[in-house]
Amino acid sequence: MPEFQTSPGMRDILPPESGRWRRYVQVFAETVEAAGYGQVISPLLEDIGVFQRVGDATDVVTKEMYDFVDKGGRHVALRPELTASVCRAFVQHRPATPWKVWYAGSQFRHEAPQRGRYRQFDQVGIEVLGADDPYLDVEIIALGWEFYRRLGLRQVTLLLNSLGEPDDRARYVESLRTHFTAHLGELSEQSQVTLGRNPLRVLDSKRREDAPIIAAAPKIADFYSEAAAAHFDALQVGLRTLDIPFTVETKLVRGLDYYRRTTFEFQGGTLDSAQNALGGGGRYDGLVESLGGPSTPGIGFALGLDRTLIACDDEGVFAAPDSSVDVFVVDTTGGAEALAITSALRAADVRADRAYENRSMKSQMKVADRSGAALAVIVGSNEVADGTVTIRPLRGDRELDVQFTVPRPDLIDSVKKALS
Ligand code: HAM
Repeated sequence: MPEFQTSPGMRDILPPESGRWRRYVQVFAETVEAAGYGQVISPLLEDIGVFQRVGDATDVVTKEMYDFVDKGGRHVALRPELTASVCRAFVQHRPATPWKVWYAGSQFRHEAPQRGRYRQFDQVGIEVLGADDPYLDVEIIALGWEFYRRLGLRQVTLLLNSLGEPDDRARYVESLRTHFTAHLGELSEQSQVTLGRNPLRVLDSKRREDAPIIAAAPKIADFYSEAAAAHFDALQVGLRTLDIPFTVETKLVRGLDYYRRTTFEFQGGTLDSAQNALGGGGRYDGLVESLGGPSTPGIGFALGLDRTLIACDDEGVFAAPDSSVDVFVVDTTGGAEALAITSALRAADVRADRAYENRSMKSQMKVADRSGAALAVIVGSNEVADGTVTIRPLRGDRELDVQFTVPRPDLIDSVKKALS
């Protein structure tokens, strides 16, 4: 075992898998930029206060944060998510609203690692600040849906809920507290602790002994104000108009405390139930204010890259892109010819690689075959003497007589023709 390895819950992403990651972000960027979203790139590290505003009753903030005091004495944290950073950036720069942004990057949470749950994981996401329109909620969800469609995923389910206005939510939380306290002895030990911190999160419990008490708990729908109910209705009508199937799941509270009204989650059909959330989001109308900005509505989602790619593997879609070069240059005269030829090919936009260390023809051809290139360009002493190069197809018809020799000045044109 080597002395140094990646830390638990952290992984190296090597080729060709890394090409798939890049393509994933590219497909996401194309999907959301076509809808008017611009990219925000914010620091990995923020003042810990930025994340504490996310809510001090959430595990993400209280238990899982990578925080430390830096050399300047500042208490900072690696970001566990990006919504708070985007709101901090909004308050700092005050762009015109509605501010429609997207992001991609790593997040850090000190969780127990397992398949689909890592300590460093990647998300892509969008946020819109400054618009309260329920059709914006529809747009956001529709963009997530469209992205999964573009990846080729079919087994995605959309769960939808509304947590009501802050007042509705507060009354609901109190009624939950009363209900769960009345059944305290029947709740799991874990849920008894959760109840003290945040009764809503008890609804998230997957423990069997909690199930009947959760099933009998008050339902949020009975607490909606007229405005919250109208917003939720309009959202559902909009989703039906766009033919996006959804299930209303009144127990969906999600793991972060800032949500108001709309919450939603995209679940994968093939993953273990503890890790089946491919992405999620919702409205967080009070977050900008809590970070020192003006009262500003906000909504967005983040989609987990790592889990979504596992779901893609399970469904056999969105394979790693082919990153092979087009041409492999074999030079048995010392290597200087290969240097000039690869350089000329690359300058002409032909993807080209070569062998090193002046190996034998046989060993260079082996590397050429492994490279996945369509053509080998071969230079030996005869070619150098004649001022020519030999072009040999590496795929398909492998008969030796298909290879041909062209004058050196015709190399680029001949290669392009042979590749087309
Ligand atoms: P979240 O539900 O905490 O929401 O994370 C979103 C997604 O990130 C999850 O559905 C999951 O796919 C992925 N994820 C979370 N933790 C891990 C982990 N430890 N390992 C692998 N994947 C993980 C947020 O982060 C909110 N900021 C979403 C949002 C944006 N709400 C409004 N705007």
